[in-house]
Formats: sequence, structure tokens, C-alpha cells
Amino acid sequence: MSTDSLPVELKYWPIKRYMDTYKKSVDNIEEFWEQEARKLDWFSTWDRVLDWDIPFAKWFPGGMLNASYLCVDKHLKNWRRNKVAIYWVGEDGEEKTLSYLQLHKEVNKLAAALQEMGVKDGDRVAFYLPMIVELPIAMLACARLGAIHTVVFSGFSSQALADRINHTEANVVITADGGFRRGKIIELKSIVDDAVKDTPSVKKVLVVKRTGHDIEMQEGRDVWYHDVVRHQEKTVPPLPVESTHPLFILYTSGTTGKPKGIVHSTGGYLVYINSVYRTVFNIQEDSVYWCNADIGWVTGHSFIVYAPLLNGASIVMYEGAPDYPTPDRWWQIIEDYKITTLYTSPTAIRMFMALGEKWVKKHDLSSLSILGSVGEPINPEAWMWYFKNIGGERCPIVDTWWQTETGGIMISPAPGIGLVPLKPGSATFPLPGIDVDVVDENGKPVPDGVRGYIIIKKPWPGMALTVYKDPARFKETYWTRFPGAYYAGDYCMRDDDGYLWLLGRADEVLKVAGHRLGTVELESAMVSHPSVAEAAVASKPHEIKGESIVVFAVLKEGISPSDELAKELRTHMRNTVGPFATPENIYFVTKLPKTRSGKIMRRVLKALVAGQSIGDISTLEDKASVEEAKQAFEEFQRLTKK
Ligand code: WTA
Repeated sequence: MSTDSLPVELKYWPIKRYMDTYKKSVDNIEEFWEQEARKLDWFSTWDRVLDWDIPFAKWFPGGMLNASYLCVDKHLKNWRRNKVAIYWVGEDGEEKTLSYLQLHKEVNKLAAALQEMGVKDGDRVAFYLPMIVELPIAMLACARLGAIHTVVFSGFSSQALADRINHTEANVVITADGGFRRGKIIELKSIVDDAVKDTPSVKKVLVVKRTGHDIEMQEGRDVWYHDVVRHQEKTVPPLPVESTHPLFILYTSGTTGKPKGIVHSTGGYLVYINSVYRTVFNIQEDSVYWCNADIGWVTGHSFIVYAPLLNGASIVMYEGAPDYPTPDRWWQIIEDYKITTLYTSPTAIRMFMALGEKWVKKHDLSSLSILGSVGEPINPEAWMWYFKNIGGERCPIVDTWWQTETGGIMISPAPGIGLVPLKPGSATFPLPGIDVDVVDENGKPVPDGVRGYIIIKKPWPGMALTVYKDPARFKETYWTRFPGAYYAGDYCMRDDDGYLWLLGRADEVLKVAGHRLGTVELESAMVSHPSVAEAAVASKPHEIKGESIVVFAVLKEGISPSDELAKELRTHMRNTVGPFATPENIYFVTKLPKTRSGKIMRRVLKALVAGQSIGDISTLEDKASVEEAKQAFEEFQRLTKK
């Protein structure tokens, strides 16, 4: 890894100047965040800035606000009422534009319809939707009523959807008849039908007509979205909620088999994402901003819906596949809408790199001024390609490090304040108010150039309230390993200039095409197949997706390995978790490498599939002896030899 600065001059701030501003903010976080909180319109102000009872933070307790009001109604007070809120592009070429005034109308209609169905303050509503305008509309309609939304990425299986509906006890599910992907229809409604067979809490399923093809509607339970909103005339006043009122629950994978329902607040969360959005993307009144994540993940929640709309920005939303019908679809959209700010993932960049520059060269991308990256470490080659070919060497790249749990961006260049000189592959410095350190296993800061764990030493307003229905897990997962600090589960290194280099997960979480997947979750999906006795999941470096999934499976007595079975197991994983969790390879073995205490040595598997030697494995968290690891590795190699 080269830690050299970029050989191109942008308008930079000296590092010291940025660090002085930064230091002032972290020396007095309450003062800093109170200033940021004043940038939102609250119905009534807070009693205190922070109640900090580690690990539970209450930001701005006593303050009352409403997310739907702040994202929509507020903009009706001035000329922005006629500004475009959402430019929507369907995969099939259909286009829609919604001004803030129109968005307000749609949100109110749906809020009224939901109210009619009995949805009220504190209720949970689950979504299983493609990237259509009804998705942000529905999020804002829930927020308007004080209802808590839980968006399930539409690539998850019916079982994963059912688990999330049951865990939140949602009474309404909002879905569509289908979605378009690469010209084909994704049958969302039939997946929902499967899921709600076992979800007693669900009273109504609201169905958006997107594709118009035939689907089954169950009398009494299923209702068409257009039917219930059509007759709604009244506006629904946004319900003032307390700052700590949950805005949403979003499930994410961790180190156990059960995904965690991360709960975000209303006040702290909105203050936080509003602040970092301005700092990182330097949004101006005439910016046209496009984040092409899926709203089913946290990036879409924070940086497609809430932060941009809070800021009265014009956003672009695209429904379909990036390279459909031709590999220049994205560049066409940028040219068509004169997009100024693009926020995407390293996986997408690497995919376009592989498709070649000719697709980019066909389009005028000169409207772009800032480029963002999120979801996984960006390798310097992809960074440089993005910088040169998409940004024309004039747009700073903001490599933004953060997590579902952090609510918003934590480490990133900050052109909205002062851009520090960039280094391809480094997320640079923490944002104001975020007190970060890199430590060893004992919590001691590591010297520059040495890999350690990234921790956050002070609370911040965007931090999750808790894990839904499991506060003990919140404490144990994030706040116990390094007492008093937040453990993120990522490796990091600080270089001689103080730049931070995020080096991937230090735990059993995979990042496949930027999608977060827990190994244990995948393993339990695998052993739920009747032929599998035991399974271990590892990841293997993948040129485009960053990582891909490799499964080692031990079959039950009497079952023989075969190509058909491998195919069947692959399908089983798709059906149990979702198509984005399809394994790249499945190896049949008779034994898994384990420590003496019976723990599967995934690091050994990882080294094996990556073609590394045991010596390349970090000793940072390997509690097992190297000798033990070596023996297991050699034995494993012998077993896997054809
Ligand atoms: C990884 C996505 C390196 C990291 C917003 C983190 C990154 C996990 C970056 C959270 C980045 C995200 N550089 N790694 N810029 N951004 N990550 O919850 O491992 O889906 O812990 O949130 O993504 O994934 P999540």
C-alpha cells in the first residue's frame, strides 16, 4: 500500500488547519453537537444536550421534532416548495419528477391511508419494495405518524423477511406487485405472500402497482396502494415526537446467527446525518445528488432519504441494474440530470473498470464536482480510476467510513469544511465531533503504521439507541471489548501523517459487493439443508465484489458429494438468505479445522482459499496457537486435495 498523497493539486486545506478545527469539536462534544442541533427546526427545544449512561445515549432529551416535517413541510415555507425533491428513473425508461410540494401531497395521502388502517405512534411497519418513489414516501409517511419503519432489502428471501416482520411485530407490510431488474420482473408480492403465511402480527399488505402484471391479492388482507390513497384529501399533521423516539429499525448481520435490529433515534440521528451530509458532500442549493445504494441498506436511509431531504436537495433515484440495458446507463443518467454529486460503492467502480473506459467516454460528466465511496475499503487502483475517468481529475473523492450502527459517516474527507490533501485508499481523518483511536487488543493505542482496531471514544448523536429488544446485546457487542469505547469491528492503521486506513472487518462479518453478511448466519442457513451436518463459511478475495462466499460443508452420513448437490445447496442459500448471498464455491470435506475447544478456525479457511500461508494470518485476534493452526491447515489441505 502506498501512502503517498495524490499527485494532483485540488484546493486543499493544510492538515493542521483541519486538525485544529477538529480538535476544538472533540474537546467539547456537547457544545459542538448543540450547535449542530440548532440547524434543525425543532417544535420545542431540548432540556439537556446529552444523558450518557454508557452505552445508552439520550441526545437532546425533551426536544420535540418530526422527521417528515423537517424533510418535507419545512421546505414549503419558501421557494423550495417548487424545487425538485426527487428525480426518479425507472429501469424501463419511465421517469417521474416530484417537487417538494408534490412530495408533501403524496406523503400526506399515504399517512392518512395508514392512519385509516390503524397505524399509530410507535407501531412498526415493514417494507419490501423496489427502488420506487413510494419507498421514501412511505418512510416519511410513517415518520409523520410516529410509526417506526423497518425496510427489508428486496434481495432478502421470504424467510429473512418473515423473521424481520415477526421480530418487529409489524402490523402492516408495504410491497409492490414486482420490480424491474435487468428487464425481468422480480416477483416481490409472491415472496411477501410466502413470508406472511407465518407472521400473525400482519393485518394488511399494501401493494404498489409497479409492473402491472398479474398477481394474487388476498381478499381482506391485501389492498392496492393506489386504491387507499386515491380518496385521501386531508393533510395529516406531523406528530411531534421526543428526540429519543425511534425513527426506524434496520437489521444488520453480526457475529451470531441472528441479525440485530439496529434502532435509530429521531433527534440525534437527524442532527447527525444533517451535519455530516453538509460537511462531506458540500451540498449547495443547485446540487443534484445521486446516491445509488439501495434504500434497503443504511446508506439509502441516511443518504438517499433523510439527509438530502432535510437539506432540501434534489435527489436522483434509479430503479434498476447499473449496466442495463447497456453498460453506460449510469453515465447516461449523470449526463441527463447534470448530476453534481455521486455517492457509490467500490464494487460498482470495479465493475465499471472491468467494463472499460469506452462506456464512460461516450458521456459528458463535466457536471460532477464531488465523488463519494462507501461500504468497503476502496483499493487505490479503483480510487485512481474513479478519480481520473469519472471525476476528470477535478472532483475530490470522499471515501466515507461508517456503519449501520453509527447512523452516518464517521471518517471521511470533509470538503464542506476544508478538504485535506487526499491519499487514494485512505478515508483520511475523523469528522468533527468524532473521537477516534486505533488500539491493540488491550486497548492501548498502536504506533503509527501498525494495524489495530478502530474505536470511538465518545458518544455521537448518530449512534444507535440500542439493539431492538436486546439492550444487553448492544452493550456486549459494541461496548464491552474496550470499556467505555465503541468497538466497530474493523481493522485500521494510522500512517505517519495521521491518515486513517480502514482495512476491513476484524470479526466474522463479510462484505460481499458491499453487502454485510455474517458468517454464522450463512452457516446456519447451510446446515438447515437436510444433507448438511456441519458447515463453515469463509470469504475469498474477489476482483470486483471485494469478497465472495466460500462454503466448506460436511455432509450427513450416507450422503455423497456431487455437483448436483452443490447446485442444490447454492439454491438453498439463495432461498434461505437471498440471491446476494449465493456462494461462489462449495467444498465438500469430511472434517472442519477446529481448535481444541471446538471453534471452527475460519482464519485458516480464509488463508487457505486466498492461497496464503499460515504466516500471513494476523496474530491479532488468533487465540489459538500457531502450531494448532498449522496442523489444521495442513490436514485440511490434504483433505481438499482431489
Ligand atoms: C465497511 C455501510 C472501508 C466496514 C455504511 C464497516 C468500509 C462496514 C467503508 C459497515 C469504507 C463501510 N472503507 N470499509 N469507506 N465503509 N465499510 O453496516 O467494514 O453495511 O464496518 O454500513 O462496512 O457496513 P454497513
